[in-house]
Amino acid sequence: MKHTALILSASFLLIALTGFATYEIFRFKHQKYHDRLKQIAEKVNNSNTTWKAGENIKWINSDIAGVKAHMGTLLNQKSGVKLEKVNRQANNLPSEFDSRVQWGDKCSSLWEVRDQSNCGSCWAFGAAESLSDRHCIHLGQDIRLSTQNLVTCCDECGFGCDGGWPEAAMDYYVNNGLVTGDLYGNNSWCQAYSLAPCAHHVTSDVYPPCTGELPTPPCVKSCDSNSTYTIPYPKDLHKGSKAYSIDQNEQAIMTEIQTNGPIEVAFTVYEDFLTYKSGVYQHVTGSELGGHAVKMVGWGVENGTPYWIIVNSWNESWGDKGTFKILRGQNECGIESECVTALPAY
Ligand SMILES: *[C@@H]1O[C@H](CO)[C@@H](O)[C@H](O)[C@H]1NC(C)=O
Ligand SMILES: *[C@@H]1O[C@H](CO)[C@@H](O)[C@H](O)[C@H]1NC(C)=O
Ligand SMILES: *[C@@H]1O[C@H](CO)[C@@H](O)[C@H](O)[C@H]1NC(C)=O
Ligand SMILES: *[C@@H]1O[C@H](CO)[C@@H](O)[C@H](O)[C@H]1NC(C)=O
Ligand SMILES: *[C@@H]1O[C@H](CO)[C@@H](O)[C@H](O)[C@H]1NC(C)=O
Repeated sequence: MKHTALILSASFLLIALTGFATYEIFRFKHQKYHDRLKQIAEKVNNSNTTWKAGENIKWINSDIAGVKAHMGTLLNQKSGVKLEKVNRQANNLPSEFDSRVQWGDKCSSLWEVRDQSNCGSCWAFGAAESLSDRHCIHLGQDIRLSTQNLVTCCDECGFGCDGGWPEAAMDYYVNNGLVTGDLYGNNSWCQAYSLAPCAHHVTSDVYPPCTGELPTPPCVKSCDSNSTYTIPYPKDLHKGSKAYSIDQNEQAIMTEIQTNGPIEVAFTVYEDFLTYKSGVYQHVTGSELGGHAVKMVGWGVENGTPYWIIVNSWNESWGDKGTFKILRGQNECGIESECVTALPAY
């Protein structure tokens, strides 16, 4: 009798322990990615670094797959395109320079922050954004070039929402051209971005949550049916005259931006970058997520730390009003090793 009672209570204990363990595994798996980012942000804030972390509402409803879906720049695989490398270095470069201040009164695209949604199209954003600016800076026309057109139609650029190569995007602009187009829902140009910004709040009736990854929309060689723009697609193709890359050299990069305007750059994203809020970013903690391409518009120095000024494509709600600063002169996260651009055709 005593024996049976012992076996019985031992079994109960075992069942209870197994149940508890199973529950813990379940809880761990379903713990929101958001919680991890919160811990990372605290670690950054407590470290002696040059930037501050915080909560970016963009990731509140996100998971690791949704976050990774944003890193669509292929850094390890090589594209079929090889661009000429340029290394021009001006004398007397200023200690700070911002394309938005230099050309921003004429060229409104410089102030724009786009939103790539849950699509790894950053490679096309960095290109279309910087080429819009350059079109205005060099030709005086304050237009927008379409990210949609580039993401959906450039086959040699890679895999659309599954990632692509900035240098191939520049090459495509020179050989094929891009039609005009701006943000989701803007029908003033030829082709608007067709992927809605994903929900930046826990509940939204309007936008889907930032989870998973969206498929690449099809390439359509006509303007959107609801577009009010009057120039037809074939006549709206804006081409470049020359695509090139810039040598991995701080002065050469500065010279290029000061002379011709913003460029597209790519770098490796670590988890701490997701939590960026202000200051000069440099990698502190977290694992590697993938390659990301963005638009570099200038440089400066903050409390003795040199930085690049960069415009991201994660909506203006992310980071410092959609922008960030990153350590300059040390190829931080590879930011100085993948600089590409093009000049518009006159
Ligand atoms: C923090 O970093 C700065 C710059 O690297 C250094 O001068 C300073 O000694 C550091 N402070 C502490 C408490 O580690
Ligand atoms: C980190 O520090 C910044 C600025 O001091 C603050 O706004 C933010 O809430 C902090 N975030 C965390 C997670 O500690
Ligand atoms: C940024 O997200 C908000 C929704 O949170 C949206 O209304 C806005 O249009 C987005 N910006 C861009 C550039 O798509
Ligand atoms: C579309 O964007 C342009 C700038 O590219 C802006 O001037 C215009 O007001 C926007 N139109 C709509 C309908 O949002
Ligand atoms: C406008 O038309 C495009 C396709 O031509 C479509 O993807 C988009 O959803 C439409 N936008 C609106 C606001 O109706």
